[in-house]
Amino acid sequence: MTPSSAYSFLSHLECSRTGERYDADVLQGTSAAGAPLLARYDLDRVRATVTREDIAGRAPTLWRYHEVLPVRDEDRVVSLGEGMTPLLPMPAYARRAGLDRLLMKDESLVPTGTFKARGAAVGVSRAAELGVKGVAMPTNGNAGAAWALYAARAGMSSLIAMPQDAPPITMAECQIAGAELYRVDGLIGDAGRLVGAALGERPGYQEVSTLKEPYRLEGKKTMGYEIAEQLGWRMPDVILYPTGGGVGIIGIHKALLEMRELGWVDGEPPRLVAVQAAGCAPIVEAFEKGARESTPFPDARTAAFGITVPKPLGDFLVLEAIRATGGTAIAVTDEELLAAQAELAALEGAFVCPEGAACFAALEPLRASGRIGPGEEVVILNTGSGVKYPETVRVDAPLLAGDDQIPGRG
Ligand SMILES: Cc1ncc(COP(=O)(O)O)c(C=O)c1O
Repeated sequence: MTPSSAYSFLSHLECSRTGERYDADVLQGTSAAGAPLLARYDLDRVRATVTREDIAGRAPTLWRYHEVLPVRDEDRVVSLGEGMTPLLPMPAYARRAGLDRLLMKDESLVPTGTFKARGAAVGVSRAAELGVKGVAMPTNGNAGAAWALYAARAGMSSLIAMPQDAPPITMAECQIAGAELYRVDGLIGDAGRLVGAALGERPGYQEVSTLKEPYRLEGKKTMGYEIAEQLGWRMPDVILYPTGGGVGIIGIHKALLEMRELGWVDGEPPRLVAVQAAGCAPIVEAFEKGARESTPFPDARTAAFGITVPKPLGDFLVLEAIRATGGTAIAVTDEELLAAQAELAALEGAFVCPEGAACFAALEPLRASGRIGPGEEVVILNTGSGVKYPETVRVDAPLLAGDDQIPGRG
């Protein structure tokens, strides 16, 4: 397929630090400056070719935005039906938080139960199109599970290394997908070093660590496109995002800029808020210091395991997204996020992952400090299903024998 394909209007890749251009039709990792590469599209051509009405008539998956996705040949798309997740009103929790309008973008409904399926679908599809035979990555669990399963669907191999404390279900997902799986006594950075060393002996494999290849980000940016489309092509006042490696928040910011250039949305951009756990908050620290980059967060640990990233490669892009939109960064404790998780399930029937719960916990301090006003429309990204983290809930129901009776209520 040539670059003039009508399925994707991908034009080139660009270094996120220097702006240097790279060929998008050969396999690329990071730029010569060691920074993430960003996919760029011929947006004039997209504007002239596609309307928002055209998109409305397409299938409800993230591939409805295919002109601004990197896969050139539609036949190369590897899909399990990901995308177009619900944007649900949370009225009871909104009242409790003193807000008029609170919506939750619920990523628990995508294949593999977390938003990681978006990055995996687009990343694996493009890697296969470029001739990659296997993908290798360190992960906090959910991304590895998604990439292993999508790689299996693409007929590709995968090598996944994750901390031994990662959610056990994510190990099971990798194993059942046939991945070469390693558990590591350490954190995601240690897993990354092991993967880097193993790659030397696996020709045809690509390293697909967070932001070390350009296309995972493209899958994740579709959350931004969907929020706008689901709101009738406008943006909310504020978006809260549980931030680890930061791919989601960088992606939503990228989507916002693209949509404005396309003329698909106008007006003020939403303020982007990076929510982190107090046990691993490098972005919050850097934001508060006014720094352009983070410093490695010591002794990182939180129940919101997916956001345990002590030094994200794309920290400067996360900080840029927050500052450019007038947003902020905030940390909540594990106690607060687990309490919010339980309260949300009881109030709204939504069993969210601890990472998503961190955003609900952040509402109260954000409201109390005036960083969110009562009349503002707030969207929270619930990045995954609580069902993937059964260990966050201690079941204390009474155990009865078959001939016991359930006690009366009087
Ligand atoms: C459930 C969940 N939420 C959020 C994140 C953070 O993702 P990002 O890299 O977009 O910051 C992760 C990453 O592992 C995750 O698994």
